Amino acid sequence: MKTQKRLGILTSGGDCPGLNAAIRAVVSHASITYDWQVFGIPYATKGLLEQKAIPLTVHCMDLRGMNPLLNMGGTILGSINKGDTLAHIDDIIAGYNALELDALIGIGGDGSLTILDVLQKKGNWQFIAIPKTIDNDVAFTEKVIGFDTALNTVVDALNRLTFTAASHDRVMIVEVMGRSAGHLALQSGIAGGADCILIPEIPYSIKGACSHLRELRDCWGRRFGIVVVAEGAEVAEDSCCPTELTKEKSSQGMGKYIADEVRNCSHNQLDIRVSVLGHIQRGGIPSAGDRLLASAFGKAAVDLLAQGETGKMVAWQNGQVVGVPLQTITDNSPSLVKPDNFLIGTAQSLGIYVGNTQHISA
Ligand code: F6P
Repeated sequence: MKTQKRLGILTSGGDCPGLNAAIRAVVSHASITYDWQVFGIPYATKGLLEQKAIPLTVHCMDLRGMNPLLNMGGTILGSINKGDTLAHIDDIIAGYNALELDALIGIGGDGSLTILDVLQKKGNWQFIAIPKTIDNDVAFTEKVIGFDTALNTVVDALNRLTFTAASHDRVMIVEVMGRSAGHLALQSGIAGGADCILIPEIPYSIKGACSHLRELRDCWGRRFGIVVVAEGAEVAEDSCCPTELTKEKSSQGMGKYIADEVRNCSHNQLDIRVSVLGHIQRGGIPSAGDRLLASAFGKAAVDLLAQGETGKMVAWQNGQVVGVPLQTITDNSPSLVKPDNFLIGTAQSLGIYVGNTQHISA
């Protein structure tokens, strides 16, 4: 007797807007088009370990005829971004088998995808990945779920901060997420009208940033400044002023660290305030772009499984969704801001200080 295919879905790593829209697309397409049963695995691999699965149907996702998942931030399945998953690899695979899953869709960023790739190979799972992260650093995909919303959130914050900065002749230092990848800082800085953008891939010098801010003031009459700094911004060795602070001491936050350095370097002539956007960047209602992407990725992931594909990640390339071997993705991630990224040239052409570009790390 033929039984219905049992498909699991989980979300792993830091959450972001658009995850629920992807879950919705997977459940709708798998159940309506292919008549599969779909099960949500709570808290990523922890749910597999604990052999937990929640049946998800198109009907159960409804709320008085509406489906709130499309525009709901976070993930209804919960997620984890820490833990020693690989220490429990056999128990996780045993959990997958106990749940009698025929296939699994995992939504994650580069860290989660690396772990899931190990698991799917060892467990011999039928597995497809969907990329998400506000860091936008997954290789071989032009878009990932969550980045567009986070970008708009940061730009909205910069719009607001610009008015108060201008009213008080202040320099606003705005710390955004991105420990190793500067895509969010670079793109939000350009779109939000920043004067300086400091990212992990291009070492900055405080002297360079300060003299740029002073030049804006002295030569162009601009009495305020906006500095966007990624949390993992990299200081150049030729950075100027000796200061009590060291990078190690910047556990208080990169924004605060840079504010102290700029204050020191400018001999207290600049009135500086710091805003740390933090997890606000991960929250909120997904943008239209993220809803579209999540829907397209969810559908494509289910179709790949229906075609018997496994060990692939759905990726956005040249205006369409394709399947790329997961190993290729994990071997080349995180995908950082590259020296030839045209947006660096764009920022420079707009007069934005983006660090010592001659020091760009390959
Ligand atoms: O990887 C996504 C991300 O949002 C990073 O930009 C950030 O550094 C990190 O997660 C924060 O993680 P946590 O939620 O553990 O504080």
